[in-house]
Amino acid sequence: MTEHAKLVYNGNSIDLPLVEGSEGEMAIDITKLRSETGLVTLDYGFANTGSCLSEITFMDGEKGILRYRGIPVEQLAEHSTFKETSYLLINGCLPSQEELTEFSVLLNDHSLVHEDMQIFYANYPRQSHPMGILSSMVNALRSFYPALQITEEEINMTVTRLLSKIRTMAAMSYKFSRGHKVVYPRPDLSYCANFLNMMFDTPVKPYEIDEDVVQALNVFWILHADHEQNCSTSAVRIVGSGRVNLYAAISAGIAALWGPLHGGANQAVIEMLMDIHASGGDLKTMVKRAKDPNDPFRLMGFGHRVYKTYDPRAKIMKAMCDKILKKLKIVDPLLDLAKRLEEIALSDAYFVDRNLYPNIDFYSGIVLRAIGIPTNMFTVMFAIGRLPGWIAQWKESIDDPRWKLSRPRQIYTGPKQTDYVPIKKRDARKN
Ligand code: SDX
Repeated sequence: MTEHAKLVYNGNSIDLPLVEGSEGEMAIDITKLRSETGLVTLDYGFANTGSCLSEITFMDGEKGILRYRGIPVEQLAEHSTFKETSYLLINGCLPSQEELTEFSVLLNDHSLVHEDMQIFYANYPRQSHPMGILSSMVNALRSFYPALQITEEEINMTVTRLLSKIRTMAAMSYKFSRGHKVVYPRPDLSYCANFLNMMFDTPVKPYEIDEDVVQALNVFWILHADHEQNCSTSAVRIVGSGRVNLYAAISAGIAALWGPLHGGANQAVIEMLMDIHASGGDLKTMVKRAKDPNDPFRLMGFGHRVYKTYDPRAKIMKAMCDKILKKLKIVDPLLDLAKRLEEIALSDAYFVDRNLYPNIDFYSGIVLRAIGIPTNMFTVMFAIGRLPGWIAQWKESIDDPRWKLSRPRQIYTGPKQTDYVPIKKRDARKN
């Protein structure tokens, strides 16, 4: 097998080294391309461009494979907890019982946020979107806590502080939006149970922890925990490449996730299904609109840049919908709509020919509705789940000897050189 690719252009040629990953993926290393040829590459959306070597997550979009540190996500969803999976992603291996206990103690120790942060929440416009609040509050953590990130111990402290406090800050935005008192984290509750209690416990109606709901949330967050170099993870790496503190890099990741083409799709799916339900369940019209190139409407929760088959996470999420609705004795008409919509789409050549299948966001909202999470917090739930992945990717980038400031190039297509014309002359020319 050749170790390089030969690029032939304008009568010249250059040999570019090939890089092979542990799963056989191949890349052309163009590190020297511009310095040796003056050429750059152009790749809108970076659909064909690798930004780094990474040992964290492996995806095979054609086969629908997703593994965290080599372990299939299906096995982690069945046997692990979100806390343990977070440890795996960040530290590169599953923890011993002693390491997991130590991690739990640290998470508990750092679950409170500075009381002064409540002043920020109290002064945030009441109907602000929780993603905007979360991105701001994560950035604001730097004002209360040093972003110590030189020694391994300092990084672990900052990382654990953020992993723990993001739950508290997310729940606080919900309590403030309802005009309810903030519920503090409890040391006797697990990571997921603590979040649910901070969200739903009230002085008049104590929240009853349902272990099946806690398990559903563990699986939900495990499925969201990492996904290689997606839009928001790339934002975290790019912002982090400027050597900014971790809170600021994660705040950028939350902002990137917010968009409806990315993490915001889970909210958009439910809003789409609610619209269909409200308009009498006319699925065929929705599918027709989604296929119409002149209609900006897209079937939210369908399609993926990498998966060209069923998103393995969507399969697990779909099964979890049935399980959690049955356990909670909830009948959600949107689930039947979603299943029928999937059936219609997957028997339509437009979707099949383009390899458009349900992605993680298509069913995730049904699970969140069953748990009682408000629709405008669905992407916040995605962000909490993705935080260990963002952290793992950020840590890997700062440890990478090839790490450098991210600064893509461009091809300029604007006007050639022209001279400045003073305003009087410009106006004279016009008249
Ligand atoms: C996430 O990257 C990740 O890993 C992300 C994520 C993660 O875990 O981090 O998996 C989370 O963001 C999942 C994706 C959530 N977004 C949505 O569900 C929004 C709906 N999906 C689409 O907007 C779209 O599928 C994207 C943005 C997800 C992917 O789009 P691409 O790769 O840029 O593909 P494309 O837009 O070039 O589409 C190719 C064709 C086009 O038609 P033609 O021009 O060939 O005729 O497929 C069509 C598109 O119009 N198409 C759709 C469609 N998605 C693509 N048509 C209708 N409905 C859709 N949803």
